[in-house]
Amino acid sequence: MPKKREDTGINRNLTTYGDAEFSKYMRRAFLASAGYDRTDLQRPIVGIVNTSSDYNVCHRQMPEMVSAVKRGVLEAGGLPLVFPTISLNEILTSPTTMLFRNLQAMETEEMIRAQPMDAVVLLGGCDKTVPAQVMAAVSANIPAVSVVAGSMLTGSWRGERLGACTDCRRFWAQYRGAELDRQDIAELEESLCFTGGTCMVMGTASTMACLVETLGLMMPGGAAPPHSSGARLKSCVVSGRQAVQLAQNNVRPQGILTRESFLNAITVLSALSGSTNAIIHLLAIARRAQIKLTLKDFDEISQRVPVIVDCKPAGQGYMQDFYHAGGVPVLLKTLEPLLDTSAMTITGHTMAENLTDVQASAGWQTTIRPLESPLSASGALAVVQGSLAPDGAVIKTAAANPALLTHRGPAVVFESPEDVANRIDDPALGITPGHVMVLRNAGPVGAGMPEAGSMPIPKCLSAQGVKDMVRVSDARMSGTAYGAVVLHCAPEAAVGGPLALVKDGDQIELNVPERKLELLVDENELANRKTNIKLKPAAPRGWLKLHSEQVQQANLGADLDFL
Ligand code: FES
Repeated sequence: MPKKREDTGINRNLTTYGDAEFSKYMRRAFLASAGYDRTDLQRPIVGIVNTSSDYNVCHRQMPEMVSAVKRGVLEAGGLPLVFPTISLNEILTSPTTMLFRNLQAMETEEMIRAQPMDAVVLLGGCDKTVPAQVMAAVSANIPAVSVVAGSMLTGSWRGERLGACTDCRRFWAQYRGAELDRQDIAELEESLCFTGGTCMVMGTASTMACLVETLGLMMPGGAAPPHSSGARLKSCVVSGRQAVQLAQNNVRPQGILTRESFLNAITVLSALSGSTNAIIHLLAIARRAQIKLTLKDFDEISQRVPVIVDCKPAGQGYMQDFYHAGGVPVLLKTLEPLLDTSAMTITGHTMAENLTDVQASAGWQTTIRPLESPLSASGALAVVQGSLAPDGAVIKTAAANPALLTHRGPAVVFESPEDVANRIDDPALGITPGHVMVLRNAGPVGAGMPEAGSMPIPKCLSAQGVKDMVRVSDARMSGTAYGAVVLHCAPEAAVGGPLALVKDGDQIELNVPERKLELLVDENELANRKTNIKLKPAAPRGWLKLHSEQVQQANLGADLDFL
């Protein structure tokens, strides 16, 4: 049934004065001060979420992107109205952007609901911004298009091609191991982030861009164009035009997303060997859409989907290589036998229809491989469970030393990320390559879940050439990082999970082929230890208090309980 005029455009979400006609008159009067007349105000309104910020260098080109989206909206007969929200930059936000993902999601959702708009274009990019915006759009459930900032171009140092941030970590590890000196590291600082844009490996930002395109909430081909390219701006224009179409046809995110769309996204996550953070974000988005998704889905799909995208940290390439290889459309076409291509998208067509004219991976490039010649046949990610993580933990197997995927060793326990920083190089640790490093109190409740899980290899071992060790925590790890790192242990230590009970010297067994993570300590002894653990009190006020009291565990998506 067609909507009543009062429900659309400037007349949506009226300010409450007790007189609806007065509210409309006041809106027209105030918008006249910005030069809008009644003809303008009859158009469908497209809100544009602008996350430009001097603190978010990954979004450096966003003002130009906003202009491009506005152009697309105007070309299609809509009225673009730009509004700001929180912008989260991974590097400049303390203690971690994950602490604020749900805050950005809440703010974005409420501003979409509170202001008059018939559709919204969400301009994000840096890691948490995209999942926060998609969570908001799904909950607000108005027509929505996701647009990302796009990745940086690669840099160069002494003839070597490089980029953020897999190479940042690799060189820092070499510096810690005394393979590089101060002068080298100073030069690298100037070379790693060559342009604006998001990290140019298959980290969280790139992964989430690809997954949102797969979910059908982004225009085809929108994930991969680099930040500074004309293709990025074209994608903005096209998205602006499409937002007007969606407004006119009232196509909403909850009408697009299905369980099959999420299974498709997990298939792509596995094929990309993408960021483990995407597991938490997909769980949270699915929960907002009231679609059942569990860690089991990730493990099952990962076992049967080959890794076919050759990007760091699991491979060698960068996002601009992925873009030149055809980006998500070519990846989806290549994966077509493993996908449910009847999934609907914001184009108004199914995924299959969108891919009609797309060619699968061809022999001239190696970044997106054919299914028959993958980087690895299966197993980019695995979910392990056991006495140390009864509700599950995850490991990115494709980025780990395979020899460590079955390992038993004594624990060295760190109480917090600060404790790691203070003691990791302390000779008194007595650590060997066979030890299992354990970090606790870094989960969603304990610390907002920082990317502290990939603890550095102690200097005394890295100087001997040790590159990887088993590490276990309730923290996350950057999508750009690598190693035999078991993450997201649930329940976390701060709510009394078994991680809180581990003592130095306890034997821990990781067995990825059998999906096990066990604390090999007698049950009676663990019960005894449990009576003595002291849980950290909640923060006294503000967002930290609300977050720590309401945030769910990682295996549920770490969203706030009441959202
Ligand atoms: Fe923004 Fe990596 S720091 S995407």
